[in-house]
Amino acid sequence: MQQKLTQLKEETLAKIKTLATEQEIIDYRNAIVGKSGSLTEILKWIKDLSVEDKQTIGKLSNDIKVSILEAFELRLNEIKKAEIEAKLANEFFDVTSPSNEDNAVHKHPLTRALDQIYNTFERMWFKIYESAEVSTEYLNFDSLNVPATHPARDMQDTFWLEGKWNVLATQTSSMQNIIYKSSELPIRAIVPGRVFRNEDIDATHENTFYQVEWVVVDKDINIWHLKYTIKTMLGDLFGKEVEIRLRPWFFPFVEPGVEIDFSCPFCIDDWSKCRVCKWSSWIEFMWAGLIHPNVLREWWIDPEVYSWFAFGFWLNRLVMIKYWINDIRYFQQPNLAFLKQF
Ligand code: PHE
Repeated sequence: MQQKLTQLKEETLAKIKTLATEQEIIDYRNAIVGKSGSLTEILKWIKDLSVEDKQTIGKLSNDIKVSILEAFELRLNEIKKAEIEAKLANEFFDVTSPSNEDNAVHKHPLTRALDQIYNTFERMWFKIYESAEVSTEYLNFDSLNVPATHPARDMQDTFWLEGKWNVLATQTSSMQNIIYKSSELPIRAIVPGRVFRNEDIDATHENTFYQVEWVVVDKDINIWHLKYTIKTMLGDLFGKEVEIRLRPWFFPFVEPGVEIDFSCPFCIDDWSKCRVCKWSSWIEFMWAGLIHPNVLREWWIDPEVYSWFAFGFWLNRLVMIKYWINDIRYFQQPNLAFLKQF
């Protein structure tokens, strides 16, 4: 029996090498390890063997089965690889050629919302600074009052790279230092950008998402300017005036820090029936604050004369609210059925 098995193994392995298509693999696989395949048939005999034989033959046949299955897998991969390579060599695919379908006219919902946000802020004389996707540990953390030992680093665990630009930005705030150092006062900047965090992905968490931040450094700036800019942006976005409410909140680089909620624009007359705001009439939405003195020490701006505000929010969340999107993962998928709705 041992001999039979070894012979079968050798024959099968040799034959597998000669198979040329996926279908041949499937058929031959069935003929060997399928319900009445030749190896299966031999294995059926094991039960009639003596206890010692059962042990040796059992182990041998199991090893043989594993190596045969591996060989099938390997050959299948080889066939598939060759198919792809042949396709690549023989077919020309012009990625720049315009599509015949109507796909081209659909803007991604994030782009749509950003267009509207730019429009609002340009009316208020803000400049747009696109946030760098690759940052440095200093810009993304240390300069924002988050040294290596700060627990806030855990909240924004990210992907690290080699070299000087060694961090995938976790927040558009990583641009604050660059903007302050490269601009003349007063500063009104809006900073959109893609940011990255080490997250467990589910319907409301992504490792890649968009933030929009805005920073204002000017004389005589107060909380009304903060409220006004937020209300204007949300009013434009939802086509309806909204109320906002501030609550104290902690962020390492602001002092004081606030979390900002806005009144739900979807509650028609009864918020206890509204799912968008989860029956509360308020939607939690963004963070803001006055820049912390430790951060200011990094810049050369006189705090007696100028005031600073920074605000940041997650664009994906706002767009999910605006368009009633229930899963954040859609934003990253090349899913035309989703994209064509916008
Ligand atoms: N950068 C912060 C975050 O990503 C948000 C923030 C921006 C807070 C601006 C305060 C001021 O979590």
